[in-house]
Amino acid sequence: MIQASSAALSQASRQAGDRELRSPNRSSLIEVRDLKKTYRTARGELNLFHGLDLEVAAGELVAIVGQSGAGKSTLLHILGALDAPSAGTVYCASTNVANLSPREAAVFRNREIGYVWQFHYLLPEFSALENVAMPLLARGTPKREALSVAANWLKEVDLEDRGSHRPGELSGGEQQRVALARALVNNPRLLLADEPTGDLDEITAGRVFDLIERLHAGHGLTSVLVTHNLDLARRCTRVLKLEGGRLAPLQSLS
Ligand SMILES: Nc1ncnc2c1ncn2[C@@H]1O[C@H](COP(=O)(O)OP(=O)(O)OP(=O)(O)O)[C@@H](O)[C@H]1O
Ligand SMILES: [Mg+2]
Repeated sequence: MIQASSAALSQASRQAGDRELRSPNRSSLIEVRDLKKTYRTARGELNLFHGLDLEVAAGELVAIVGQSGAGKSTLLHILGALDAPSAGTVYCASTNVANLSPREAAVFRNREIGYVWQFHYLLPEFSALENVAMPLLARGTPKREALSVAANWLKEVDLEDRGSHRPGELSGGEQQRVALARALVNNPRLLLADEPTGDLDEITAGRVFDLIERLHAGHGLTSVLVTHNLDLARRCTRVLKLEGGRLAPLQSLS
C-alpha cells in the first residue's frame, strides 16, 4: 500500500513539476486574486467569497479571524489544494493550485504544505513516532530513515520521551504538538493551521502557540493561521478579518 502510493506520488510529482506555474510575484508565497467559491446546495447556490484577494510574503505569520461560517476553513482548504476554487487564481508555494489533478494535489500537499487542524487526526493505532513518520513513508522514504527523522521532530516539539505513546495516551496539548511535528516532517514551505489551539485550555493553547511561533521562525516557514483567539492573533505579523466574502486588515484588536 505504502509502496504503491509512493510510486504514484513520484510519478505525479514529475507531472506536477512539468506543469508547475510560477507565481507572477515571486516574493509572495501565497497570491490569491478575485477568488470565488460557489457551493450548490438543496436551497440553491451559496457564494462564499466575493472577489477575495490575499497576498502573503515569504516569512509572514498571518492570522485570519472572522465569524463562524465566514469561510475561513474553506479558504485554507483552497490554499492547501484540498478544495478547488470556482473562479479566480490561487498561487500557493509557486504552484497554481487550481490547475492540479487530484494526484498532483496530493503530491503538492505532501511536499509543500504542513496542515494542522483543531482536531489532531493522529492515527490511534500507531505510536506518536510512527504518526510523525507517516508523511515520509508516503513519499517512499525507507522506514529506518523515516523513523530517525521523525524522532528528531519529536525532539523539536519537546516530546522525545513520548514517542512510543499512542495518541490516546497523550494529553490534548501533546497530541497537537505531535500533529505539528507530523505537519512539518517533510520540511514544507507553508504551514496552514485551522484553529490549532481551539480545543485547548488557555495555558496549553498559549504553549502550543509558542511552539508554532518557534517552528515558524526556526524553519523559515510562511504560515497562515485561523483562530478565534484575538490574544493569539495579536502575536502574528498581520491579522486579517474575513467578512462579507473578502479579507481586510483588522483595525483594532481591543
Ligand atoms: N461542501 C460544502 N457544501 C455546501 N456548503 C458548504 C460546504 N462546505 C462549507 N459550506 C458552507 O460554507 C460556509 C463556510 O464554511 P467554513 O467551514 O469555511 O466556515 P468557517 O469560517 O471555517 O466557520 P467556523 O469558524 O465555524 O469553523 C458555511 O456556511 C458552510 O455551511
Ligand atoms: Mg472553520
